[in-house]
Amino acid sequence: MIVTLDGPAGAGKSSTARALAARLGWCYMDTGAMYRAVALMALDRGIPLDDSAALAELAEGITIEFRDGRVVVDGHDVSTEIRTDRITQATRPVADAPPVREAMKRIQRRMAEGMDVVTEGRDQGSVVFPAAALKVFLTASAEERARRRHCEETARGKSVSLTAILTAQSQRDEGDRTRAVGAMKPADDAIIVETDGLAPEAVVDRLVAMIAELGRP
Ligand code: C5P
Repeated sequence: MIVTLDGPAGAGKSSTARALAARLGWCYMDTGAMYRAVALMALDRGIPLDDSAALAELAEGITIEFRDGRVVVDGHDVSTEIRTDRITQATRPVADAPPVREAMKRIQRRMAEGMDVVTEGRDQGSVVFPAAALKVFLTASAEERARRRHCEETARGKSVSLTAILTAQSQRDEGDRTRAVGAMKPADDAIIVETDGLAPEAVVDRLVAMIAELGRP
């Protein structure tokens, strides 16, 4: 069974998807991490970020695994490195390239085959798994998302203003919404969940209840 969780950065997708998968004992697929991994390998191998055919070939040629909450590429743990600002920036052209998205769609479908999976991204319900049992679009107001990111950055000891976070966030949202292929949008039959003012556990409880209504687990 497949449950898709899409939505903008900062809506709480990752923590919700991870907690939901753990609660159900299902696999968790972080598709943003997959695009990030391709960007990292492209920089490592000197592949130009505007060579979409070479990027797609790279995506098909590497092995990405999720092991115990870590992201492992060709046997190397890249979990920390793929979250750096350098990789966040390099991921944009990688995720915008239609041949890369085609390759990712194939890879993600292959990874999920025959499994119970909670998959998280931007296009999982709308493009990659249109027949998923449950499609959720998780969102929150721009202010709430920026406030959460600000708390995270402050906790990491980084000093960055709320205004700077809001500006960067609206640029990312715009890029996600307007990309020619794989634009972020709820599937027609997605359930929209607004997470403003909701604790992560409450969101997970709500999703577990929705899955129970489907007759599983
Ligand atoms: O979610 P995260 O910030 O890790 O995503 C990294 C990048 O990959 C973002 O630029 C996002 O737009 C892109 N992405 C995508 N399709 C997905 C998941 C992420 O284009 N399914």
